[in-house]
Amino acid sequence: MKILVTGGLGYIGSHVMVLLLERNVEVLCIDNLDNSRLEVLDGIKKITERKPLFKNLDLKNKSETDVFFKEHSNIQGIIHFAAHKAVNESSKKPLLYYNNNITGLLNILDFSIKKDIPFIYSSSCTVYGDAKSFPINEDALTSNPKSPYGNTKLMGEQILKDCFNAYCKFKTIILRYFNPIGAHPSGNIGEFPLGTPQNLIPYLTQTVIGKHPFLKIYGSDYETEDGTCVRDYIHIMDLAEAHIKSINYLISAKNKKMYEIFNVGTGKGSSVLDVINAFEKVTGENVPHKFVGPREGDVPIAFADVKKINSKMGWKAKFNLEDGLRSAWNWEKEIAKKS
Ligand code: UFG
Repeated sequence: MKILVTGGLGYIGSHVMVLLLERNVEVLCIDNLDNSRLEVLDGIKKITERKPLFKNLDLKNKSETDVFFKEHSNIQGIIHFAAHKAVNESSKKPLLYYNNNITGLLNILDFSIKKDIPFIYSSSCTVYGDAKSFPINEDALTSNPKSPYGNTKLMGEQILKDCFNAYCKFKTIILRYFNPIGAHPSGNIGEFPLGTPQNLIPYLTQTVIGKHPFLKIYGSDYETEDGTCVRDYIHIMDLAEAHIKSINYLISAKNKKMYEIFNVGTGKGSSVLDVINAFEKVTGENVPHKFVGPREGDVPIAFADVKKINSKMGWKAKFNLEDGLRSAWNWEKEIAKKS
């Protein structure tokens, strides 16, 4: 089997590539290195003793993209990660986000549709906006993501829906990720933010290792049990495995066309304080922290209903919050050794 992974050097893409290579899948990786590092390929090689075929390619460049696809026409599946993903940045640079995330998607879809190649799209729970009932299932309203980034994800879903309606052999699966955390157990790959991380776990581990004086907890009087926001933290290895299940589901499906959406989470919500307590418990480290005001765009609560992916694909998270935090901490220590 030959699978194309776009944005394969990023956090989720790199873990998915490892699982594909371990299953002897031929993997083609494209990435424009905008927010990723070439050395991720070495980490992948250390784990799998194989390397994907890599091409530094920006999907916004239609002519280069077309040339690439002419050279590699026998691809059997596409997993599309390549996108900008910083919620905060997207509010400041909306055009950058619309241009990158939508243009790239359109250019790759053009190829997928011409060649009838099944397509996996990485979406986000951000499309649910400020949900009103929990756990959130796939039928919940998706009308108001709170950032341009979220809007690009929702628009992407709508573009795929229109393609499904228009083309008789178009097959796609949309995965709505909740909050990915942790790293590969080998310590060879993990989340490698360029610049100051915006997400909770990398900021927390960087604080504990001494890069920041304290972790800011955004908001203390949300309507949650302890006043801090609740999220569904899903281990990156579980999330990666959901892509393998999705590829199998797409390729083996008898139906000619498909458009299906799946949440990928644990089904369990944890508050920011739960995360800090769990981290301190599993690592024995202290997390210096201070409460500050709420962060713009944060929703109070988001955790997934995962019944659909469980019943249709047989996928279920195997790791818990503690496992994710332990591996995130190991990874932070590996990064420290490198620098
Ligand atoms: N948080 C802090 N301090 C920090 C960073 C985060 O208290 O320094 C809190 C946030 O307020 C939030 C929780 O930790 O309550 C998780 O925040 P993250 O930034 O880690 O994750 P988000 O839930 O904001 O964002 C994630 C993904 C996005 C996706 C979004 C949908 O990173 O890609 O979920 O809600 F769009």
